[in-house]
Amino acid sequence: MPKLIVANFKMHGTQPFIEDWFTNFPLEKASSKHVVVALPATYLASFRDYGLCLSGQNVSSMEKGAFTSQISAEMLKDCGASYCIIGHSEAREQLNESNESIHDKYLQLKDANIQSIFCVGESLEVKESKMTESHLEDQLSAFDNDSEGLIIAYEPIWAIGTGLVPTISEITEVVTNIKERFNNPVKVLYGGSVNASNAQNLLEKTNIDGLLVGGASLNPQEFAKIAQLC
Ligand code: PGA
Repeated sequence: MPKLIVANFKMHGTQPFIEDWFTNFPLEKASSKHVVVALPATYLASFRDYGLCLSGQNVSSMEKGAFTSQISAEMLKDCGASYCIIGHSEAREQLNESNESIHDKYLQLKDANIQSIFCVGESLEVKESKMTESHLEDQLSAFDNDSEGLIIAYEPIWAIGTGLVPTISEITEVVTNIKERFNNPVKVLYGGSVNASNAQNLLEKTNIDGLLVGGASLNPQEFAKIAQLC
């Protein structure tokens, strides 16, 4: 069973940039079922038939109604998304998202039959005060132990876009704790400064089930190198 590899484009790309990206992504689409691309929502529909799974980067916690600017789970589904990232640290911080609202997003996605990729991760301050475990537990607290089919992305905030990556034993410990918290199998991805040079070590030496890749995913050749390892 291949590991899951997710490209997070964040707020990057234009129609021609993404067309070039797909044209230059060198792997056979048929052998890339484990590859997911989280595009800005405005481009999802245009790339729904390009052969890779698509993901949203966020979703409303509400089903529908007077929520100007928001995008519902049903709308993402209509545009071809089968996954959606929720709880990314950038959205938590910039959009002031709470653990409760993120859990509501998860429920909306579940109803729309979209797989959530639920992000958790600690700041440097939390890490340095050795509070990572309780911080992650707090972020997971809205999910009961019997939740099924979860995909969780462990993304330490201090590792995102910085070139810093936790040690193999730090990642393994966090991932083990997350998996042990649930009674059913959960997949745990790692994200934060993953690139073609460090991906193999992370995949082989830790117990992660895949990778969430930001900056390095914007280069289709580099992203394909990582995807090939999964
Ligand atoms: P990065 O971002 O790979 O650029 O560190 C990862 C993410 O934020 O998902």
